[in-house]
Amino acid sequence: MSVPLLDLAAQYREVGEEMETAVLEVLRSGRYIKGEKMVAMERALAEYCGVEHAVACASGTDALLLALMALDVGPGDEVITTPYTFFATAGSISRLGAKPVFVDIEPATYNIDPGQVAGAVTERTRAIIPVHLYGQCAEMEPILELAARKNLAVIEDAAQAVGAVSREKKAGSMGVMGCFSFFPSKNLGACGDGGFITTGRDDLAELLTVLREHGAQPKYYHRLVGINSRMDALQAAVILVKLPHLERWHRGRRKNAAYYSRALEGLPLALPLVREGNQSVFNQYVIRTPRRDELKEYLTKKGIGTEIYYPVPLHLQQCYERLGYRRGDFPESESAALQTLALPIYPQLSEEQLDEVAGAIREFFGR
Ligand SMILES: Cc1ncc(COP(=O)(O)O)c(C=O)c1O
Repeated sequence: MSVPLLDLAAQYREVGEEMETAVLEVLRSGRYIKGEKMVAMERALAEYCGVEHAVACASGTDALLLALMALDVGPGDEVITTPYTFFATAGSISRLGAKPVFVDIEPATYNIDPGQVAGAVTERTRAIIPVHLYGQCAEMEPILELAARKNLAVIEDAAQAVGAVSREKKAGSMGVMGCFSFFPSKNLGACGDGGFITTGRDDLAELLTVLREHGAQPKYYHRLVGINSRMDALQAAVILVKLPHLERWHRGRRKNAAYYSRALEGLPLALPLVREGNQSVFNQYVIRTPRRDELKEYLTKKGIGTEIYYPVPLHLQQCYERLGYRRGDFPESESAALQTLALPIYPQLSEEQLDEVAGAIREFFGR
C-alpha cells in the first residue's frame, strides 16, 4: 500500500461538490478579483483567529512582506527570526533591504529559542518574527515581554499554524500582526496561492489594504508605493467552503499524531513535543533520528511519502553568504536539518495507512 505525504484529492472527495458550486458561482459572476467572497472570507478569518481584522493578500510570502512594509521596515533595519523555517520568512526581510538576524531554535519544538532573542537585539532591531513551525506556536510570552520593553514589533509567521492555540490565544492574535498562507499543503489551503494578515489595529489594517493595491487610495492616486497582492475571488470562494471543516480536519491530524506517538513509542526516535498550554494543528508530524536519510530511503522504497523540512538552515543558504554566518553558528538548527523527517499526517489517512507507516518505521529499526 502506498501512502503519499499529502493527498489533496482525498480532501477534494470530501468537499469537492461544495467547492465546485462556489467556484462556478464566481465564474458566472464575472468578478474575479477581490469581491464579496473575499470580504466575507476576511470577516470569517478574523473571527476564527480571534482578531479585529484579517486582510487577504496573494500569498503567505506577501503577507510577511506587507506586514514589514506596514511597519516601514527597510535598509538599515534588522529583524530577528529563526534560521530553521521556510525561506520566505527571511526572504521577505531581505526583499525590503533590511537584514535578517538569526537566533537558534529550541531542539524539542524546533521553534525559536526565546531565551536567545535578547542577545540578538541591537539598536537597529525593529521587529521579531517568531515562526509557529509545523503547527505549534512558538513560546510567545517572553518574546512579547522583551519586545514591549525594547519597543519592537512582533510579527507572527503563522503560515503553518492557522487555528493553533497558545495559552488560549489563537496564532496570529498575539503579535502586532500575524501572517498566514493558503498554499495548498497548509491546513487551510486554497487551489493555488493566497494568504492573509491578521491585526488588532485599525490603522494597520487600513494601511495593509492600501499597500496590497500599489498604495493607491483612491484608485489611481498613490499615497504610498505598495505592491500588487490582491486575492482572487476564486481562491476566496474555496477558502470559504473549507473554513467550516477546518476544526474537524485539525482534530483528524491530532488523532493521527496521537496514533503515531503511541505506535512509535520506544523506538530510538524523537517524537513531536507539544508544550503545555499549546494546541498544535500538526501541519507536519516531524520525527527525528540521526539515521534520517537511511530511514527516508527505506520508506520511499515502501511507497511512503516523507519530506525534509528543511534540509539547509537559512544562515547556510548560498544567497545569505553575505550575512557572514558560518556552519556551527546555530547548532540546533543545523542538527535538526540533518535529522528531521515529516511523515504523512493529513486528516483523511486511514488506519491501515497509519499502520503501514508506523509498521515500516518499526521494521526499519528492527522492532
Ligand atoms: C513558515 C512559512 N512562512 C512563510 C510561508 C510562505 O507562504 P507562501 O508559500 O504562501 O508564500 C510558508 C509557506 O510556504 C511557510 O511555511
